[in-house]
Amino acid sequence: MRVLLVGSGGREHALAQAISRSPKLTALFAAPGNPGMKDIAQCVAIKADDIAGLVDFARKEKIDLVVPGPEVSLVAGLADQCEAAGIACAGPSRAAAQLEGSKAFTKEIADAASIPTARWQRFETSKEEALAYVRQHGAPIVIKADGLAAGKGVVVAQSVEEAEEAIEKLSLPLVIEECLFGREVSLFAFCSGEEAVLIGAARDHKRAYDGDKGPNTGGMGAICPPPDFDHEAQEKALDLTVRPMLAEMVRRGTPFKGVIFAGLMLTEDGPKLIEYNVRFGDPEAQALLIRLESDLLPALDELAHGRLSQDSVTFSDQPSLSLVLAARGYPDKPVTGGVITGLENAEAQPGVYVFHAGTILQGGQLVAAGGRVLTICAKAKTPEKARSRAYEAAASIQWADKMLRSDIGL
Ligand code: AMP
Ligand code: GLY
Repeated sequence: MRVLLVGSGGREHALAQAISRSPKLTALFAAPGNPGMKDIAQCVAIKADDIAGLVDFARKEKIDLVVPGPEVSLVAGLADQCEAAGIACAGPSRAAAQLEGSKAFTKEIADAASIPTARWQRFETSKEEALAYVRQHGAPIVIKADGLAAGKGVVVAQSVEEAEEAIEKLSLPLVIEECLFGREVSLFAFCSGEEAVLIGAARDHKRAYDGDKGPNTGGMGAICPPPDFDHEAQEKALDLTVRPMLAEMVRRGTPFKGVIFAGLMLTEDGPKLIEYNVRFGDPEAQALLIRLESDLLPALDELAHGRLSQDSVTFSDQPSLSLVLAARGYPDKPVTGGVITGLENAEAQPGVYVFHAGTILQGGQLVAAGGRVLTICAKAKTPEKARSRAYEAAASIQWADKMLRSDIGL
C-alpha cells in the first residue's frame, strides 16, 4: 500500500513510525514531514494546508491512502478533494470537520444530541451583549473565539474584569460558557459514520509551566492511560459523548468518518464535553502509539473506507508518558536556532522513543526550529518507571534554549 501522511509534528512522526512497521506498506511519503522521519518516509515539500498540492501529488504517486495528521487539512477540505479524486482518506469531510472548526457548531450538536456539556451562548455581532452576559453571570466564566485559533482562542476568566478583557481581545463570533470543574481527559475513537470503536484515552498537560501555570499550549506532555479513567469509564464516556454526536451528524447528512478526539472534563456529575477535535491529539498520540501492538495501516485503511472492526487496534498494558521539549518562549515567542545534541543517547535507552516536531537539518546538524521541538516518550511496567525513563532520556538531550515541564505525570 502506498501512503501519504500529512503533517510535520511529533504526532505525525509517531504515526509514521507505526505505519512504517506494517508489512502491507510499500511506500510512505510525508508532506511536509520532519527530519526525524527521513529514514522511514520520503518527505515532500508540500504544506498541510495546500490541498490542491497534496491531492495532485497523491494522484501522480498513485497513493492508496492519505492519512491526515492536523486539523488544518481537514477543515480545508482534504478528505472531500481526495474523495473527488478517488483516493481513500482516513479523515472527515470539511462539513464534519466543523466539529473542530467551530465551537458554536459543536455546542449546537451537543444540545441537539443531549450530550452533557457546559451551558453556553453565542454572540455573533455584539460585544456589548457579550459584556452584559458576563456581568450578569459572573466569574469564573469561559470566553471562546468561535473558529480555529491554534489553542489561543480560549480564556478561562477568573474574574469579570478578565472576562471583559478577553471579550475585547478576541474577535467575534464568540461563545461564552459556564466554567466546568474537574480533571480533563482526551478520549480517542475511530468512527465510521454510524459507529465508534474506542481507541483509548490520555491526559494532556496544556499549560506551559510546572503546576499548570502559564499560558495554554498545544500540550506539554501526556500520560496514557489516565489512572482515574479506566476502560469501563472510557466506554461509558464514548456512549455519552461520541455515539449520540455520530447519530446527529448522520441525521444532518454529514456523517463523521475518522479519528474523533473528545476533550472531556470529569466533573462531579460525570464526564462533560469540552470540545471535539477531528484528529489525534499531540502529544497524546505519541503516548498512545508507542503502546500500539497491532498493525495500524489496515485499521486506517478500513477507517478510510467507512468500515470498523472491534479489535482492529490493540495496545500493550504498559502505561506510557510523553514529554515535550519546547523552545524557551513557547508558545508566544519561541527562541529557535539552538544546535541539538544527545539524541542518540536518548533513543538508545530501552522503552524510549524520540519524535521530532520543530527540528531542521542545517549543515548536517539538527537545529531547533519551532515551538515544540521534540517529544520524548517512554513506556514501562509502571507509570512511575515510564516517567523516570522519559525524564532520564530528556536530560541527555541538550540545546541552548530547551524548555520542559518537570511535573508531567506527577
Ligand atoms: P478548547 O480549545 O475548547 O479545548 O479549550 C482549551 C482549554 O480551555 C481546555 O482544554 C480546558 O482546559 C479549558 N476549557 C475550555 N472550556 C472550558 C470550560 N467550559 N470549563 C473549564 N475549562 C474549560
Ligand atoms: N494536545 C491537545 C491537542 O492536540 O489539541
